[in-house]
Amino acid sequence: MTDNDLHVNDLPAFHITGGTGWINDPNGLVYFNGEYHVFYQYYPYDTKWGPMHWGHAVSFDLTNWKRLPIALAPGGEGDKDGCFSGTAIVAFNKLYLMYTGFEENGGGENVRQVQCLAESEDGVNFFKRGVVIGSDDLPEDFMPCDFRDPHVFCHDGIFYCLVAAKKKGGRGRLLLYRSDDLFKWTFLSDALGFDSDGIMFECPNYIEKLGLIIVGDQLPPPKADGCLNVHSTRYFIGKMDFTAGKFIVESEGILDHGFDYYAPQSFACCPEKILIGWLNMWDRNVPSAKYGFAGMLTVPRKLSVNCGRLYQTPVVKTSKVYETSVGKKLADNAIIGVIEIKADDLESFEIKLRQGNENFTLISLVDGFWVFDRSKSGEAIVGAEKDELSLAGIRKMPLGAEKHTSISIVLDKYSIEFFEGGRVMSSTVYPPDNADKIELTVKASKCTYTRYKVENRS
Ligand code: FRU
Repeated sequence: MTDNDLHVNDLPAFHITGGTGWINDPNGLVYFNGEYHVFYQYYPYDTKWGPMHWGHAVSFDLTNWKRLPIALAPGGEGDKDGCFSGTAIVAFNKLYLMYTGFEENGGGENVRQVQCLAESEDGVNFFKRGVVIGSDDLPEDFMPCDFRDPHVFCHDGIFYCLVAAKKKGGRGRLLLYRSDDLFKWTFLSDALGFDSDGIMFECPNYIEKLGLIIVGDQLPPPKADGCLNVHSTRYFIGKMDFTAGKFIVESEGILDHGFDYYAPQSFACCPEKILIGWLNMWDRNVPSAKYGFAGMLTVPRKLSVNCGRLYQTPVVKTSKVYETSVGKKLADNAIIGVIEIKADDLESFEIKLRQGNENFTLISLVDGFWVFDRSKSGEAIVGAEKDELSLAGIRKMPLGAEKHTSISIVLDKYSIEFFEGGRVMSSTVYPPDNADKIELTVKASKCTYTRYKVENRS
């Protein structure tokens, strides 16, 4: 696929994609030399997962992104068959990427996953420095075929790295390593000390300022009051004891209640705690593949923690379009933008988004839960989930605040991200372009509706 084949009008307006090809996890999020850098798992040659590269995009405002040349391609020491997920850190005046080198070796237990380092002075051209945590650095009872997604960070002048690993005959754990120079690493501990719910943990993130660990859980048993997607993203709030190398969990939850969300990561070297995830899920068809691209990243979210719970709000650069109270006709052409609805003493709520002749996505409040229904959204998305709600196109999320409800809805060409009470439901939708209307019905003592344009975009 060349640039000429790129269907620019078919791309989302402000969500990161690879332009062409396949993307999954965000990688190496970092604020470096005055710009936000986002890398991502990227296969440029097809709309399916393949030997992983690191794609690269930069932004000054977290809304308008510019794609840069591929940062990492497979073929070096330890990464013959792929450069898997990892993180970034700024140290010694350079930008370092720590990632998993993947070698297939015929598959199964012969797979080798090792942790590699690459460095850059300009943030654009990267020079691989080879394997820094190898199979020999694993404790004996862990498997070198399932050892990935290093998360590097600094505490009190010492570098630490959390890596997801699988116990022989067991499940996922998070191993903690330490280093003085990013090159020589020593195993410290099994930091969580308990198993993943599913077969393996993936993509750990530790956010010291919030006392927060975020981690992917691969193939956990589906839970109607938790996550029904094949893979779930969990968070743990607590405290890291660096002497013992143990994270003491005080509370936990899931990151997103929608259909399409996995493997998020927060920006390193950035005072604000901002997270971006993959706005897709494994084992589903991606209707945009016909335009030459598959996969995108979520809008950035600002994180905070209060009373043992994680709160997330969207970060989008907007300008106000107009304000109207509920009951008046809402304008059409609502495909791209941000909607805010504030309601006091909310009794009932129903919004139809991307409404056309036959299509709409319905978000309604039913018995204290937000119900996201994409059964009539547009092109069908078929996944591996076989439970009743998934087959009916439904996701649910508890209502946060009934007294003063504050809702933000982030709309882009193929996605709806619904925020309320610090929680989120993120889902892709593929309606026709003429499905661009909104219908809102609210019963509340007071309600305001504000629609925002995304800055510098349509
Ligand atoms: C998570 C993941 C990571 C791995 C990457 C490969 O979605 O499976 O564990 O590094 O994707 O693309």
